[in-house]
Amino acid sequence: MTVDLSGPLYASLEKAKKQFEKAKRERNIELAKEKARECARISKALAKNVPNYADIYLKQADDWERKAEHVAEKRRLEKPTSGGSETDEEDEYKSQIEALILKSKVTWKDIGGLEQVKQLMMETIVISGLNKPDAIKPWKGILLFGPPGTGKTLLAAAAAGSLNATFISVEAGKVLSKYFGESSKLISALYEVARERAPTIVFIDEFDALSLSRDSDISEASRRMLSSLLSALDGLQDKKSKNFVLTLAATNTPWNLDQAVLSRFPRRINVSLPDEAACREIIKIHTKDLDISNIEIPKIAEKCIEKMYSGRDLSNLCQLTMWNMVREENKNLSELANLSYEELTKRSLKLRSLEMKDFYDAFENIKTPLSEKDIDRYDQWSKEFGE
Ligand SMILES: Nc1ncnc2c1ncn2[C@@H]1O[C@H](COP(=O)(O)OP(=O)(O)OP(=O)(O)O)[C@@H](O)[C@H]1O
Ligand SMILES: [Mg+2]
Repeated sequence: MTVDLSGPLYASLEKAKKQFEKAKRERNIELAKEKARECARISKALAKNVPNYADIYLKQADDWERKAEHVAEKRRLEKPTSGGSETDEEDEYKSQIEALILKSKVTWKDIGGLEQVKQLMMETIVISGLNKPDAIKPWKGILLFGPPGTGKTLLAAAAAGSLNATFISVEAGKVLSKYFGESSKLISALYEVARERAPTIVFIDEFDALSLSRDSDISEASRRMLSSLLSALDGLQDKKSKNFVLTLAATNTPWNLDQAVLSRFPRRINVSLPDEAACREIIKIHTKDLDISNIEIPKIAEKCIEKMYSGRDLSNLCQLTMWNMVREENKNLSELANLSYEELTKRSLKLRSLEMKDFYDAFENIKTPLSEKDIDRYDQWSKEFGE
């Protein structure tokens, strides 16, 4: 039986890191070097104990060895600060979050179908903004689940775009692998920035990455990140803050989420494949500005349903269709590659109206990865746990 030492090792790493920071603050260079080397040693031990994340820990060990070498130099270069390095560290995380901030231009109009979902999200946003008794608490977190390509990311972007809100989008899996032991600090920084920059939509994609890893080797880091996320959410709920921060979490595998997570997301919305009416809308959205007067959109929508297309498949279908038309009308496109960019901008693509044939050719090339069984699984979960 293998003994999982990651917990104690992780705790010693945290301790050594604190001692390193303290030594650096007190300009005790020798001690700082020693502590950085200790962090490198522990990181290497963690690499052995957590084989799934060995690469990350080894990289971390390298970073610590580099820090051990350069601690004196860096100190000389740094401006003396009065705050101390805890604050430096916090600022550093905050600046990493600032780099993740996006401005979304997506609006509700860019989303075809999903009427109920849109309505619920709009209501949530409106309730948050209006004056109301304390007892009425708007949702702080909404879980969006469903098959790939159904518009979950798009919905989050539209929520932010419509409010002209700050949009912070993170992938749980990436945060976990990039920041690993530090990921919980990143989450605290994230919510601090979210509050400062309110109104804010925090979008956490691949949300299941947090729960999934609970029982595996990575459990320690994942648990920390998750608990820091859950307490940030609880904190938002408690604060009678006027700052609007809404967390939207998305997953393709809701069945991997556990109770602790689900309880913080009482609103769980099934973002499913588009129905016929939605397909018609999505086709129109994705062929905007083109002549579609020769197209029988209901016929195409029908075929999309038959093929179990998601919104992403529909978008790809429209793209391919347009390409079919563009290639046919512009036979010499590749010859123009010799022209300078400036010359190119003086010319326009030749276009004609889209024809059914363009669509039929495109249909051949787009296959959904989903089966009826997959969809049933979402519906089943939705019946049991959905809102
Ligand atoms: N309802 C929709 N209306 C218009 N376009 C859509 C819709 N759903 C999906 N699309 C198109 O498909 C693309 C992918 O959608 P999106 O990224 O929102 O899917 P997702 O549900 O987040 O997928 P994943 O689970 O793989 O992350 C969008 O950028 C958009 O072009
Ligand atoms: Mg997405």
